[in-house]
Amino acid sequence: MTESQTLELAARRRRVAGDIQRRMVAHVAAGGTTDMAPQPMKNDASAYTDESRAALERRELFLKRPLVVGLTKDIPNPGDCLLFEDVGQSIIVVRSASGSVRAFLNMCMHRGSKLVRRGEDGTCDVSGRRFVCPFHAWTFDLDGVLVGIPGAQGFEGLDLGQRNLVRVPADEWNGLVFVRPTPGDDPLDAAGYLGSFASELALLDLASAFPVRSSMLTAATNWKCALDTYGEGYHFSTLHASTIGTTHFSNVAVFDAFEPHWRLNFPEKSLRAISKLPEAEWPHMEYGGIHFIFPNVILVAGSLESGARWVRMFRVFPGPTSGEMICRTAVYVIGGSESDRQSSAFAHDDSNSDVTQEDYQVAVDGYANLVSAPPGFTVVYGRNEPALQAFHRSVASALGL
Ligand code: FES
Ligand SMILES: [Fe+2]
Repeated sequence: MTESQTLELAARRRRVAGDIQRRMVAHVAAGGTTDMAPQPMKNDASAYTDESRAALERRELFLKRPLVVGLTKDIPNPGDCLLFEDVGQSIIVVRSASGSVRAFLNMCMHRGSKLVRRGEDGTCDVSGRRFVCPFHAWTFDLDGVLVGIPGAQGFEGLDLGQRNLVRVPADEWNGLVFVRPTPGDDPLDAAGYLGSFASELALLDLASAFPVRSSMLTAATNWKCALDTYGEGYHFSTLHASTIGTTHFSNVAVFDAFEPHWRLNFPEKSLRAISKLPEAEWPHMEYGGIHFIFPNVILVAGSLESGARWVRMFRVFPGPTSGEMICRTAVYVIGGSESDRQSSAFAHDDSNSDVTQEDYQVAVDGYANLVSAPPGFTVVYGRNEPALQAFHRSVASALGL
């Protein structure tokens, strides 16, 4: 990024943050109003519990669409790679010698063996910038080209040009790495997929986000029950009475739709005092908030007192049945010192324990009730839960329902 682009980005970040701050202060000054949808929306319980619906979602939402598999600095250098194994087949995502991101099925073109295995942190080691199959040592370069066969005379007469790794569409945009997890030649256009949300996500400067810690959460619930808990602040004062409920207003939010994506901002209680001041005296608010990339990514952005910024990413995936899910969580820091990274790692651990003990617990209980609810039972998303309405409308639309 050139210096003038950096300055322009910083100015736009201040402008958008200022607009959001103004809208939050207006809600607080009005005694606790919130952005509303035109009317409440019902959704059948079977949207969460029906197994054929779950299979349709796994196919239409998680095999045919761009999915975020990580951020740029998860694989910063040629040869750095990660494995994406949360939907369908195992996929290798690697930075090639030219610096671009490529993805392949993690499948040897001799007899199908896995070429690389997942390390603790989801990354994999590709020593010598080559994929060497552990079975008979067929060797592929970072572009997936077959470059070595021991005992090659055994394969005389075979068109080895057809034995390069199977490509999976991949793209990298402003720090986000995407794959569309079905092999094919149609290019993946991440910016096109993000549409009008792209300019907002650009404000997060994700290309500079350094990975600090990652982990995996599981719960016996539907993936959408888990995702729903990120999409409203209506529950802060009850479910999170001793955590975010002490620092943030409940049921007050600024919502912006970039359907199928969206952004939510929840005001801190400190805005009550600010709302009594003239705008010229308001403290600067750093850009942040909850950013949802359809169908399954929550990016929460905030800043530390030092001025360093952090981003927490939650990627929620359906399990093999409607009542299983996993969430891959990771925290990244932009700028800042080693101690900023450490404090962000601790905050990540605390947040994960709140998520599992509070949010995912109600998601587990709610799912169990929905499974045995009376036929035709519907859940309802209030006017004050516009992000949930947008999410479920987008899911239904993507499924052709
Ligand atoms: S299966 Fe990979 S080299 Fe034989
Ligand atoms: Fe919550």
